Amino acid sequence: MGTEARIEELRRLRDEAMHAGTQRAVARQHEAGKLTARERLEALLDKGSFQEVDQFVRHQSAGFGIEDKKPLGDAVVTGHGTVDGRPVFVFAEDFTVFGGSLGTVVADKICKILDLALDTGAPVVGLKDSGGARIQEGVGSLDGYGRIFERNVRASGVIPQISVIMGPCAGGAVYSPALTDFVFQVDQTSHMFITGPDVIKTVTGEDVTMEELGGADAHASRSGVTHFVYPTGRDALEAVRYLLSFLPRNNMELPPYYAPTDLADRLDDSLDSIIPDSANQPYDMKTVIETVLDEGEFFEVHERWAQNIIVGFGRLDGNTVGVVANQPAVLAGTLDITASEKGARFVRFCDAFNIPLLTFVDVPGFLPGVDQEHGGIIRHGAKLLYAYCEATVPRISVITRKAYGGAYLVMNARGIRADLVFAWPSAEIAVMGAQGAVNIIHRRELAASKDSEGRREQLIADYEARFNNPYRAAELGLVDEVIEPRMTRVKLVKAMDMLRTKRESLPPKKHGNGPQ
Ligand code: HXC
Repeated sequence: MGTEARIEELRRLRDEAMHAGTQRAVARQHEAGKLTARERLEALLDKGSFQEVDQFVRHQSAGFGIEDKKPLGDAVVTGHGTVDGRPVFVFAEDFTVFGGSLGTVVADKICKILDLALDTGAPVVGLKDSGGARIQEGVGSLDGYGRIFERNVRASGVIPQISVIMGPCAGGAVYSPALTDFVFQVDQTSHMFITGPDVIKTVTGEDVTMEELGGADAHASRSGVTHFVYPTGRDALEAVRYLLSFLPRNNMELPPYYAPTDLADRLDDSLDSIIPDSANQPYDMKTVIETVLDEGEFFEVHERWAQNIIVGFGRLDGNTVGVVANQPAVLAGTLDITASEKGARFVRFCDAFNIPLLTFVDVPGFLPGVDQEHGGIIRHGAKLLYAYCEATVPRISVITRKAYGGAYLVMNARGIRADLVFAWPSAEIAVMGAQGAVNIIHRRELAASKDSEGRREQLIADYEARFNNPYRAAELGLVDEVIEPRMTRVKLVKAMDMLRTKRESLPPKKHGNGPQ
């Protein structure tokens, strides 16, 4: 065969690989409101940047009729490209080929991409749309999942790993996304579960639809498996691009800098009046966060789950910060089991990837209740405490109002090695709230008093005058500076700038054994 004919053959094979799924399968995919794997990669990556790997891989299996069907590239499209000019590795499961099921060569292709991403230190994004383990290939396909899981764990904390669930993701297959840093789901067209509705009906008798069981809303607001939900695949992929703009390539690099249009010394008078006069009245902590960050831009993570704590990314004077904040507008901002887990995972991500932490504190304590105690609030709350204590990135806290008891410490207090603690004049830093404290320390006196209510009020007022302010903590150096709220952005920009060269390391160890 002459050279020209060989080049023609290559072109024909490439074309065949580009159309591995049948026309019928592609039409079904579109009818289901889903993009194909290649359309997704086009939407995710910079135009023309995709470089495909393993386009001509074919499965070598026989039996159950699959020996006659050997589509080029099999059921996953893999390679690398760029997002905003920065390198990213990608794999997109192709539902139009064997339902995106994972045979051994599909696993080989994904593992090659994970290895390249780890070796070169670049993020990896997996687009998931698959019927799971390829039934015809048996244990070989199960082994493929094992190889992927092990690589996900090896890469954890070294390169950012992002999973986008864009179709079915069932059985043990869900553990790959669960091992990655962030999970996106597309509303209505993506479903994740260990056992589906039919098996559940047989085993427990429960009736549940696929959407109720494993749809985006279920995982974003109930289970906490999913961090982000978007109405369409294109929206989700655009959001992945945005998320990547906050992250470094790997754990040895700093996040990218984006020159801000916002002034570093911008004051905001609205913060001076945001705290209500009554301590029990809520306000929206998101307003505080948005007021302080560059251009008011805050990319919230886990927006629908454990809303009593807020976590997400923003920038201060062009540099990425990870924000953790109590939300007084939900459950009075108390910490409960899910809030502790949500906060802990986020703090650990930021610490692994050199993202400074900015913590806004307004926490009356841990949520009281038998459910919470028996559900393990002790060990779950300890996760957030452990995560902060372990974090060596710059850590700054701003106490806006309540900072009581153990929750005060857990929310990045000086005692657990915060670098800087600012407090607003409205801060109340104490072992507990006035009412509870007076009932305990003056119980006998109140029981004996003829005017117990009047006396209680007086004692509460005394306690509040003494403890409901930031100055006791400032006297002890536990608050570094009491600031006017409108100065918050200015102070934080300067503080982060000062802390940029912070170097701290933990004692050598194989790994810690934090609460799980
Ligand atoms: C081989 C599969 C497949 C699979 C789907 N297909 N899943 N082929 N192995 N696991 C094929 C179908 O035969 C069909 O081929 C094509 O993909 C499209 O599937 P449909 O059923 O027509 O599509 P749809 O109606 O949209 O339903 C999608 C689905 C369903 C809900 C995902 O296919 C399904 O329930 N599949 C099985 C899911 C499952 O139980 N997987 C194993 C999970 S356990 P044709 O040729 O007709 O187009 C697991 C273990 C992992 O994954 C363990 C890791 C530790």
